[in-house]
Amino acid sequence: MTLVAGPLTLGIMTDVYVNKDDYLQQKGDVLSKKVFVGGPVRVFERMGRSQLITLLHAGLYPHSKVLDIGCGCLRGGYWLIHFLDPGCYFGIEPNREMLEAGRDGLLEEGLLEAKQPRFDHHDDFGFSRFGVKFDFVIARSIWSHASKSQIEKMLDEFAAHAHPKSVFLASYLRPSLMKRDYKGAGWVGKSHQSQEAGLVYHKLQWIAETCAGRGLEATEPGFEMFNGQRWLYITPKGR
Ligand SMILES: C[S@@+](CC[C@H](N)C(=O)[O-])C[C@H]1O[C@@H](n2cnc3c(N)ncnc32)[C@H](O)[C@@H]1O
Repeated sequence: MTLVAGPLTLGIMTDVYVNKDDYLQQKGDVLSKKVFVGGPVRVFERMGRSQLITLLHAGLYPHSKVLDIGCGCLRGGYWLIHFLDPGCYFGIEPNREMLEAGRDGLLEEGLLEAKQPRFDHHDDFGFSRFGVKFDFVIARSIWSHASKSQIEKMLDEFAAHAHPKSVFLASYLRPSLMKRDYKGAGWVGKSHQSQEAGLVYHKLQWIAETCAGRGLEATEPGFEMFNGQRWLYITPKGR
């Protein structure tokens, strides 16, 4: 799988920035008074929409089965649930309050019944409870909080529940002089167990080696979205 940065890539970024419709942004503003909305509220609508755009560029169809790890208040899930066929959206979110606030505050009446999204609340990064082989797995702003062992678990689960054409899209933050490679054991940042903000950083080389050890390949398409997070496309090797 070859992904190149170029005019198309710039197109994604421009698209993300130009929307003037504040319908969902207003809902996000209201929601942010009650729960954590997954990141800075000023980019709530754009950050959610950019997840659908990124998946579309990776080949998403309405019939694709998508797992959203740490789906939060459905910042990205809102768009995916609308786009996907009934029964195709799956979300894992251990923070029930956050998910329920998003379900009530973002989704239009009748949408849940029409689209039948499914949710799981475990925090072990297990994918098997849905009994589905996913076409796409997305983890937006998850590896920027997860430990190395948690990322390894997600990759193990992806390898076990993927088919040869599955794609795992994960955003991550690179370390730098002041932002050291994370070697700790646990999650850093807001969650079902913590109200404290925080970010972690992982080297691309470590990610690539960890993927390779599981028969997976990590490709960075070469563009940044917001907050310095970079997308990785992870696929079974030789795709
Ligand atoms: C920064 S937020 C991003 C939420 C969502 N992906 C988005 O883009 O809006 C991180 C999310 O991961 C969730 N999370 C924390 N620990 C988790 C775990 N062990 N398994 C799955 N999700 C977890 C948090 O509750 C939070 O909703």
